[in-house]
Amino acid sequence: MTITRFLTGITTSGTPHLGNYVGSIRPSVRASQTPNVESFYFLADYHALIKIDDPARIQRSTLEIAASWLAAGLNPDHVTFYRQSDVPEIPELTWLLTCVTGKGVLNRAHAYKASVDKNIAAGIDPDADVTAGLFMYPVLMGADILMFNAHKVPVGRDQIQHIEMARDMAASFNHRYGVYFVPPQAEIEESVATLPGLDGRKMSKSYDNTIPLFSSREQLKKLITGIKTDSRAPGEPKDTEGSALFQIYQAFASEEETAKLRQAYADGIAWGDAKALLLDRVDQEIAPMRAAYEDLMAHPERIEALLLQGAAKARAIATPFMAQLRAAVGLRSLDTAAKADSGKTAKAALASFKQYREKDGQFYFKLVDSTGGLLLQSRGFESPKVAGQAIAQLQREGAAGITALQIQIEALDAPAQAAAAQALTALAEAAEAAEKK
Ligand code: TRP
Repeated sequence: MTITRFLTGITTSGTPHLGNYVGSIRPSVRASQTPNVESFYFLADYHALIKIDDPARIQRSTLEIAASWLAAGLNPDHVTFYRQSDVPEIPELTWLLTCVTGKGVLNRAHAYKASVDKNIAAGIDPDADVTAGLFMYPVLMGADILMFNAHKVPVGRDQIQHIEMARDMAASFNHRYGVYFVPPQAEIEESVATLPGLDGRKMSKSYDNTIPLFSSREQLKKLITGIKTDSRAPGEPKDTEGSALFQIYQAFASEEETAKLRQAYADGIAWGDAKALLLDRVDQEIAPMRAAYEDLMAHPERIEALLLQGAAKARAIATPFMAQLRAAVGLRSLDTAAKADSGKTAKAALASFKQYREKDGQFYFKLVDSTGGLLLQSRGFESPKVAGQAIAQLQREGAAGITALQIQIEALDAPAQAAAAQALTALAEAAEAAEKK
């Protein structure tokens, strides 16, 4: 059983709509309930600053998005749910990654390039109104992902390039300093089509064609009535293809329900009746969550407390990992820096794992150097098999596996942590070399 770590961020720049729900919230909440998955969900409020300079809107959106995720069933006891700006290690890591990222790579980022191309087309300065924040956006996103060594990042297609950039950042950091980062993978939900909006184009804030997730039933009815259809009269057969109404229905309905509506289209259902069916189907799923949402919105202090707890959970990983990373790049106490470098490679070459059982009945392992000095101490595992699998993951992923497995190394000082990471890197490299032979 290898633990797979999922992580995804939601920019706090708007009010969640049905498209966000179908494309991101619902699949993520479901994924977080599967076994052997560890999930990290966060509110990307630093990212929001790139687009929005209205403080009240950022705060409002943060509250609405957090309430939406919780109302949709995200269980903060099972996942790590936090706000990006509560984890100061993220901007700190952003700088370390900035220093291993090619400027040319960022020049090619779609969002930045689109702004520049627009300016060029308009015949004005290519960088007019382009902030350095927009330019640096992919690095901040890389730090979000690499901070927790996520294996899989569920995102929309428009974000694939950013995940590839994060992989590049991981590779160039690992190449320079030892294997600290797992290369993340984008996870694209093939089955989740993008939801069309009221006008038939992709549902998106920027097209102003959205249906807010938590509209009242009355509002929902009004919006659904406004969905664009063609002018075919009742009794005339209708096309499901290209019908926004049909596609939204499909995103909520079972296969049988969808088949029934398809038949009704062929039989010439009146648009008004089809809209009534859609309203009922969507509301059936949303109504139970709506009550939870309204309750949460009325108690922002509860959400705040949950987010702070989430941040504490996130920082239990980020703080020690950041200490390792600082030591790795040479941001070290002058007191101990010389010590850390001496004999590091010799130690690393001969490090080995020892498995044992404690009085508490749990199974543990440690990594010791050639002189028996402790490099790493695991937490307890329920069986020798699971502990062995954790060792295998460390051997495969090197130091990157430390965060993935939540190995306890807080007790060690930063140079010792760096030595442990180096030892694991050496082991992972040796394993890879052996495999190639
Ligand atoms: N950029 C993402 C978006 O706009 C949000 C985001 C920020 C994100 N950091 C992330 C997504 C890290 C996944 C992983 O959709």
